Amino acid sequence: MTMIEMKNISKSFTSTNGERIQAIKDVSLSVEKDEFISIIGPSGCGKSTLLRILSELQEYDSGEILFHDENLKDNLGFVFQDSVLLPWKSVYENIVMPLKIKHMETPETLAHVEELLDLMNLKEFRNSLPKELSGGMKQRTSIARSLSYNPKLLLMDEPFGALDAMTRDHLNLELRRLWKQTKKTILFVTHDIEEAVFLSTRVVVLSNRPSTIHDIVTIDLPEERTLELRDTPDFINYVSRLRGMLNEQS
Ligand SMILES: Nc1ncnc2c1ncn2[C@@H]1O[C@H](COP(=O)(O)OP(=O)(O)OP(=O)(O)O)[C@@H](O)[C@H]1O
Ligand SMILES: [Mg+2]
Repeated sequence: MTMIEMKNISKSFTSTNGERIQAIKDVSLSVEKDEFISIIGPSGCGKSTLLRILSELQEYDSGEILFHDENLKDNLGFVFQDSVLLPWKSVYENIVMPLKIKHMETPETLAHVEELLDLMNLKEFRNSLPKELSGGMKQRTSIARSLSYNPKLLLMDEPFGALDAMTRDHLNLELRRLWKQTKKTILFVTHDIEEAVFLSTRVVVLSNRPSTIHDIVTIDLPEERTLELRDTPDFINYVSRLRGMLNEQS
């Protein structure tokens, strides 16, 4: 079942010195229910712009976006590349904020928040303020915040970019598990090709600016993904194929 249809989306910006920059050109993509799509492409090609357009934070110039499930628009979680936490609120209060706004504080959802604190290794810091956290902790807090009300559609813009390799591995596994258990549709931007292959059902490769879709690769690997999978020939093949495509772009 198709959830979202993007048809020929284009978007230009005018920079402060008056130069016109076309970020996205004629991007068409259908997102199926429960897909995990990663988007990779050269820096500055328009990946964040594409997610912002999808979340309706950013307008686009031409084309069309169809949400086949209208409820999806109100059931959307977003992890920004440079997520901002409320500086005067604690880790816990930041994570609970979306539930508060949506009047969804129930014993079940609050129990889920406790699980997320545990999952993100933030229990000890629940009462800390953002300024008392490391960059990685802040990022984990914003990931927990985006998951707190269990959104159906999750847009994640390099959520694990600032994390150390071990935490990243751990969160990759957990995100895959969460995605499978809670049936979400995820669009995930990353610079890490291995991460894209590990997590996704499909990987979208964007070209250099103006971004068009260079290719879409279906990742036909076992449903059950363990870290050892990364050492298998099939996995390595996907990674090198995608790396080749990316190198052509830069
Ligand atoms: N609000 C804005 N005003 C002007 N130009 C913008 C704006 N937002 C993005 N751009 C430009 O659009 C292009 C795409 O930016 P975008 O942030 O989407 O890239 P990206 O693929 O996410 O890059 P990165 O991998 O470095 O995060 C860039 O050239 C950027 O300078
Ligand atoms: Mg970006």
